[in-house]
Amino acid sequence: MAPDADPIPPPPLPGAHPAAGLTIRAREPEDCAAIAELVSLPRVRWGTLRLPFTSREDVRQWMEKAPAGHLQIVALLDGRLVGSAGVHPDKGRRSHVGGIGMCVHDEFQRRGIGAALLAALIEAADRWFNLRRLELAVYVDNEPAIALYKKFGFVIEGTRRADAFRDGAFVDSYMMARLKG
Ligand SMILES: CC(C)(COP(=O)(O)OP(=O)(O)OC[C@H]1O[C@@H](n2cnc3c(N)ncnc32)[C@H](O)[C@@H]1OP(=O)(O)O)[C@@H](O)C(=O)NCCC(=O)NCCS
Repeated sequence: MAPDADPIPPPPLPGAHPAAGLTIRAREPEDCAAIAELVSLPRVRWGTLRLPFTSREDVRQWMEKAPAGHLQIVALLDGRLVGSAGVHPDKGRRSHVGGIGMCVHDEFQRRGIGAALLAALIEAADRWFNLRRLELAVYVDNEPAIALYKKFGFVIEGTRRADAFRDGAFVDSYMMARLKG
């Protein structure tokens, strides 16, 4: 270490997450049933690209196909899976870029779980994956998600028109991104 480098303290001792009962860990293959349930919830589907009637087998297959190097985490509240999030590093000359996706169970939203998941993703991206740019697409009417991303330093960079078909109509998306300071 260079003599003038800031010292990096050791990680804190293992313990409970600041939000009581909340644990964040890596996604495991055995989570596929809980994730199939999560992504089939109406509010989760409304905010994401998930389709109705997603089976465990669908989830098992897309989990199996996830490329190596993608970070996938889940949030457990008192042992129950209530959220999922991931960062997907790009390749080649975009290897400093990571795409983000996330969702929180309909019945457990607005309790700080999305913020805990996003903080964990940003910490991993900034301090371990060395990603300079995090980016995502969010529907222009998804106010909770836009507010969450803005709180963590994401800014709107543009609009993709008719970006996805949702509940019988096309919807525009904002492209949002955050650059590491
Ligand atoms: C977006 C989402 C992940 C937020 O998760 P959450 O656990 O409900 O969010 P949190 O409780 O951690 O809230 C963190 C911040 O987000 C913003 N926020 C969250 N819900 C909000 C709401 N309903 N209205 C306004 N702001 C909201 C606030 O800034 C909030 O901070 P505050 O509580 O101090 O005001 C969740 O609503 C969700 O999963 N939605 C469905 C799927 C989805 O849209 N995913 C994002 C795809 S781009």
